[in-house]
Amino acid sequence: MSEKVRWRCPSNIALVKYWGKRENQIPCNASLSMTLQAAFTEVAITCLDKTQEGLEIEYFFDGKKNQPFETRILQYLMANRNSFPVTREHKIRFESTNSFPHSTGIASSASAFGAIALALLSASGKESDPDFLRQASYLARLGSGSACRSMFADYALWGSLADYTSSSDEYAVAIEHVHSDFSDMRDAILIVDDEAKKVSSSKGHGLMNGHPYAETRFIQANQHCRMMLDVLKSGDFDQFVSIIEREALALHAMMMTSGDYYLLMKPGTIHAIEEIMNFRKETNIPVCFTLDAGPNVHVIYPGKHENRVREFLIAALQPHLKDIIYDRIGSGPEKIMY
Ligand code: DP6
Repeated sequence: MSEKVRWRCPSNIALVKYWGKRENQIPCNASLSMTLQAAFTEVAITCLDKTQEGLEIEYFFDGKKNQPFETRILQYLMANRNSFPVTREHKIRFESTNSFPHSTGIASSASAFGAIALALLSASGKESDPDFLRQASYLARLGSGSACRSMFADYALWGSLADYTSSSDEYAVAIEHVHSDFSDMRDAILIVDDEAKKVSSSKGHGLMNGHPYAETRFIQANQHCRMMLDVLKSGDFDQFVSIIEREALALHAMMMTSGDYYLLMKPGTIHAIEEIMNFRKETNIPVCFTLDAGPNVHVIYPGKHENRVREFLIAALQPHLKDIIYDRIGSGPEKIMY
């Protein structure tokens, strides 16, 4: 049995959404995200002696064997085994934990696949490669698209944009030239409902095939990415708020207008959105909401307004929620030393 390698990878919140993909996890449009700090997955891998030919793994989540995830990881490794030489020589034991409670409904596939790709590449001797994080981003994407954006602090762009030469459909890149006003942003995650997702993201992406508004949506998202890149450079909070909220509603509009239509927002989601908009109007604080593929609301705001925003969230929204998780912009993945 050889030494363990342990990596921590944060989650990320998309400000411009990835929704719709082609074969091999190639996105139909570019997306842009903020990397988080408090919501993360840690994955430790131990290299064991092989007992048989072929791939051999065992996957533990919170100290317990997790069969569904083990099967998913096995499929992922079968498809990408040449990228992780360590899996040819050893049986791999994965031990994984999340920083956030399992029942919060926070999507964990981004941080999980991020941490898995980092730990496997690291155990495969790739850590000193100059493009280590890019390789990790590429391989994390093959597990879950949004995972590729978690490799970089503070903001990341994934998906090729004609006028942004470093951008790619295959991996994310860190966004450079960010105005200092956007360097201390917060994300309070309002847990409206903590039930498992009704419709998986994979199914949702699939429903963009043949969706009547798909082409327009992909053009809009690319345009929003370009606008957001300018906004992040200039420090324009009005535009920042407007793009983020338009994106959240556009994502859910796609779900509500697909052939197999569905609705993930709950009454508590709408209530929170209305309260946030009213609070912004009354205070002029640039606080806004975004949504992932679920009913929970992410409240995005600058750190200097933390006290005022927390007071508002506790007084106006907490009584209607299961929980609030306070997160902030993060510094990217980290190798954990024993
Ligand atoms: C709504 O990355 O979970 O959160 O590639 O199938 O694993 P897969 O999908 P996933 O989709 C995330 C969709 C989203 C928007 C986003 O994060 O950009």
